[in-house]
Amino acid sequence: MTQSLPNVDPQRMRQDLARALDATDQPPHAPRILLLYGSLRERSYSRMLTLEAERLLRHFGADTRVFHANGLPLPADAEPDHPKVRELRDLSMWSEGQVWCSPEMHGSVTGVMKAQVDWLPLEMGGIRPTQGRTLALMQVSGGSQSFNALNSMRILGRWMRMFTIPNQSSVPKAYQEFDDDGRMRQSPLYDRVVDVMEELVRMTILLRPHSATLTDRYSERLGEAERSAEQA
Ligand SMILES: Cc1cc2nc3c(=O)[nH]c(=O)nc-3n(C[C@H](O)[C@H](O)[C@H](O)COP(=O)(O)O)c2cc1C
Repeated sequence: MTQSLPNVDPQRMRQDLARALDATDQPPHAPRILLLYGSLRERSYSRMLTLEAERLLRHFGADTRVFHANGLPLPADAEPDHPKVRELRDLSMWSEGQVWCSPEMHGSVTGVMKAQVDWLPLEMGGIRPTQGRTLALMQVSGGSQSFNALNSMRILGRWMRMFTIPNQSSVPKAYQEFDDDGRMRQSPLYDRVVDVMEELVRMTILLRPHSATLTDRYSERLGEAERSAEQA
C-alpha cells in the first residue's frame, strides 16, 4: 500500500497518456534546434564542430539557431535583462531540442559552456526554458579521446530536466580533424556526428508532442495545490 497520495489519479494518468499518443497528428513543423558551444577562440574547433552539426541538422529538415557566447557576462555579473542573456533565454524558450558542444578543459566543460547553462533558469515565472527539450552532446579535446566534458554535460542536462539522447560525439585531437576552411574531414568521427544529429531529429520529433505529459510531476502538482489553498 502507498501512503495517502493527494493529486495522484492513475485514471487521469492513463487519460493523459492516451491524449499524448493522439497528439502526434498535430501539424508538422521543422524541429527547432538551438546549438550552444563553449569557446570564444577565433579558430575554435568546438565552434567548427557545432557549425558542422548545424549543416547536418538543416539537411535533416531542422530549423536551427547557433548562440555565440561572445559578450555574455559571467552569471550574476549583470542583470537578466542584459541583451546577451535575453538572447540566450529567448532562444532556449524557442527551442524544442538543443546541442551542447564543449571543449574539454582540465577534465571538464569550459567556463564559457557552464556560464551559458547557468544563465538558463530552471523556472522563471512558470516558464521553463529547458525542461522537456531533447539534448545532444558533443565535445572536442586536444588530447586523446575522452568523455569527461560529455559526462559533465550529461549531469547538467539532467539538472536542466532535458532528455539527453544516448548517442554522443567526442572528437579527440580536434586540430587534426578540420581543414583550413573550418570544414570537418571525412572520417568515422564525422560519421558519428551524422548519427548523433539524425538521432536528435528523430527523438525531437517523437518526443515534442509528449513533452508536457512526460514532465508532469506529482510533487509539483502537490506544491501548486498547496499554494492555491493558501491563496483561497
Ligand atoms: C587551459 C586548457 C586546458 C585544457 N585541458 C584539456 C584536457 O583536460 N583534455 C584535453 O584533451 N584537452 C585539453 N585542452 C585542449 C583543448 O580541449 C583544445 O585546445 C580545444 O580545441 C579547445 O576548444 P576550442 O578549439 O573550441 O577553443 C586544454 C586547453 C586549455 C587551454
